[in-house]
Parts: sequence; C-alpha cells; structure tokens
Amino acid sequence: MPQTQLDLVVVANRLPIDVSCEGGQLSYGRSPGGLVTALEPVLSQRGGAWVGWPGAPDLAFDPVEIDGLLSIPVSLSQLEICNYYEGFSNATLWPLYHDVITPPKYHREWHEAYRAVNTKFATAAAEAAAPGATVWVHDYQLQLVPAMIKQLRPDVRVGFFNHIPFPPEALFAQLPWRREILMGLLGADLIGFQRAQDAGNFRSCVRRLAGLTTRGRSVRVPGAGGTWRDVLCTAFPISIDSAAVAARARQPSVQARAREIRAELGNPDCILFGVDRLDYTKGIAHRLKAYEELLREGRLKVPGVAMVQVASPSRDNVSAYQTLRDDVETTVGRIAGDFGSLSSPAIHYLHQTQDADEMAALYLAADVMLVTALRDGMNLVAKEYVASRVDGAGALVLSEFTGAADELRQALLVNPHDIDGLKATILRGVAMPPKEQRRRMQALRRRVMDHDVAAWASGFLAALGGW
Ligand code: G6P
Repeated sequence: MPQTQLDLVVVANRLPIDVSCEGGQLSYGRSPGGLVTALEPVLSQRGGAWVGWPGAPDLAFDPVEIDGLLSIPVSLSQLEICNYYEGFSNATLWPLYHDVITPPKYHREWHEAYRAVNTKFATAAAEAAAPGATVWVHDYQLQLVPAMIKQLRPDVRVGFFNHIPFPPEALFAQLPWRREILMGLLGADLIGFQRAQDAGNFRSCVRRLAGLTTRGRSVRVPGAGGTWRDVLCTAFPISIDSAAVAARARQPSVQARAREIRAELGNPDCILFGVDRLDYTKGIAHRLKAYEELLREGRLKVPGVAMVQVASPSRDNVSAYQTLRDDVETTVGRIAGDFGSLSSPAIHYLHQTQDADEMAALYLAADVMLVTALRDGMNLVAKEYVASRVDGAGALVLSEFTGAADELRQALLVNPHDIDGLKATILRGVAMPPKEQRRRMQALRRRVMDHDVAAWASGFLAALGGW
C-alpha cells in the first residue's frame, strides 16, 4: 500500500464509504456526498486519500480503494464515540457554534477524548502524507488536528475548512478549552470559513482570547526561533455539484415522479416543502408553528395546500435530538389531527432519509421551499432546490441566519424567530406570480450554477498553494 506516497490527504470525521459486516465479513460501498464528489477528481489525479471514521464502533481494516478512492480508517471504540462524537463534538461544540440554541455541556472527560481522538486522526494523516504533501482537514470535530500535524510533519502544507458557523467571541469565550482550540486551528497555513462573518469572529477570538495580532485577514502566529507565520483566515462559501443536481432533475423518470407526487398529494394548488436533518438548528418547530397558525386563522386551507416535511434521522443518541424529535412529532400530530381529513392530510411527515432521485422529484414538486434554520453554516438544501428547478419555477423562503443567504439574495429572506414575519413570507411564496418566480429563480440559478463545489475546492487548494 503506497501510503507514504500521498500528495493530498483529506481528513474528515466520516469516511465517504459505507461499511457493512455480514457473517464476520466486511464489505464496502461508496456513500454519496458533495464533499467527496468535489474532491474525487483532484484526489485521483494527484494520488490522494481520505482519512476518517468508518461510522460504527471498533471497525478496523486495512486502507481500501473503492472506485479509485483510497480510504484510510480511524477506528473508534464505543466509549470514544460517546465522549468524542456524541459528547464533545455534538453536545459541546455543535450547540456552542450554533448560537447556543440549546445549552452546550462542558465535561472534562469529553474534552480528553476529543484530544485523544484528534491525535489518532493527526497520526494517521501524518503517516500517509508524502514529503511536502498537502493535508486538508475538515470541520469542528477535528480542530486540534492542524497543529498536531504541523508538529509531527513540519514539511506538509495544512489547510482547514470549518463547515459550520464560527461563533462570536461573547459565546466562544464560554469554552474552557478556548485557547487550545484556537491554537489547534492556527497550526494550519490556511483556515477557510463559510461566511466573512465567521472568519471575522475567528479573528476577533484570536486577538482577544489568544493575544495574537491580525493584519487584514491574516493572523501572525509565532513559530520556532522567533519566526512568524501569517495564517490567512477567510471565507470560501461551499456549494454543491450543481450540474449533476440539475441533470438529475431533467431525467424523465424524475419528472414523472414529481407529477406522481403531486397526484398522490391530491393535486393541491400549493405544496410547501421542508427537508432537513432532524436538528434543532434547522428551525423546524418555528416553521410548523407558522404553518399551524396560518391553518388555524384560515389564511391557508387544506386541501388547497399540503405540507411535506422530511426529517432525516440524526445523532439520535444525543439527548437534545431526542427531545427535539418528541417536540416536532407532537406538533405534527396536532396539525394532522386538527386540520386534516381522511382524503387530505394537512401534513406529510417522513422521519426517513430519501434517495437522491426521490429528493429531486420532491424539489420539483414543491411550490414553496421552506429553509428556516436558526443558524446554519451554509445550508445546501437551499442550493439543491435552486439547482433542481430546471423549469425556472418555485419560490424559496430562506432564513437570514444561513450562509446561503449571503449569496441567494433573490430568495424570500426571513427571520424565522419572527413568526408573524415568517407567516407573511410563506403567504408571499404561496401567492407569488409565475413571472416573479421565474425572474427570481433565474438569478438564483445563475449564482448556484456558476459557483459549484468543484470551484470551491479548487479555489481553496489554489489559495493553500501548490495546486
Ligand atoms: C454537518 C456537519 C458535518 C456532518 C454532518 C452530518 O453538515 O458539518 O461535519 O458530517 O452534519 O452529521 P453527522 O454527525 O451524522 O456526521
């Protein structure tokens, strides 16, 4: 296995593969995802690999090559999954970085596991990288990895991209291990964020909490022997494989399925649609509250309108997610019970992951897309909806608190905390004349089709140097 020959090593919490075990025999398949689609061409051209967790406890195997992509596993025990993944990553950092929508929990044993698991990832990446290679580390689960790699392998170039928001100093300051996280990230040569606001928050945290100076968008980091490194910290808004999403929506089978979905829902005048991971950051409860009030006030009426909410299962061992599920399902039950009939349910709720063709058909069938996140690094659903609307129709209601709102200015932008404003915006979407839909969608499509995930990846790697 030519593990020491790799010029580009991607490090992310999850490997882009599905591993299953039958009769003690492991089998592997590719799991689809935007990040892997974007990085695959450059990984295969330049001899690269992906370091990550296979997604289940105690899965250890030799690096595997699937469809030309080499995956190097980092095995995690059940205890490490509890403390590093469910604990520090998803019950400390995730809520802290998303505006403390739910209170973050600070536990020293979770932090110790985070540090130990970050060391495992850094060691695996440092072993795999060729002399002078590039290592690209992703997301909040691995913020200590850049400095650890730099320590082990000062010859490699290290990039870091944060897929979620970076919080303002007033919130980040709560973290007992704030300085360690900042210095962990500053081991990188380039740090990318979704929005300019996130990069600005990071630079102020560095000034105020780590006592370093910034010059423009760079941070001056002290190195060995009185030397300095300038680390550029700036925005690289991520995107989707826009052409592939649009091509899927053009398939006759997908278009036929979209018509079938409309018919199955009773051919209502207007279909409202939401699709999210079942996460408290997504504002699902706010969206349901607005819909329920509009029905109660008679400003929307079943069967003229129907709502579909897909909530894909997520992090269901973390207690805040269990509470959220109970709350959402109580509200869904009340809406269904109060406003539906046997022939026309007021809401269709699926706690299931849908495949890509079904998603494309749902996007095409949806007249009004509801993206009401309370905080979201980017929100790729908004971009997928736009890329899927090859017919130029549809209205997008988009929360101001998403990264996507910086780019998708022609959406119906909304503050999801303002329930009256949200209700008015939903009604605007429902009543939007076809001509206005086309005008807005054309501008939205121009942006999404021109700025795809391949451009994002090559922009980041070019800024990191040598690519
Ligand atoms: C967000 C994070 C990713 C994460 C994904 C799914 O998009 O930025 O790093 O992989 O959620 O969450 P999960 O916990 O299932 O990996």
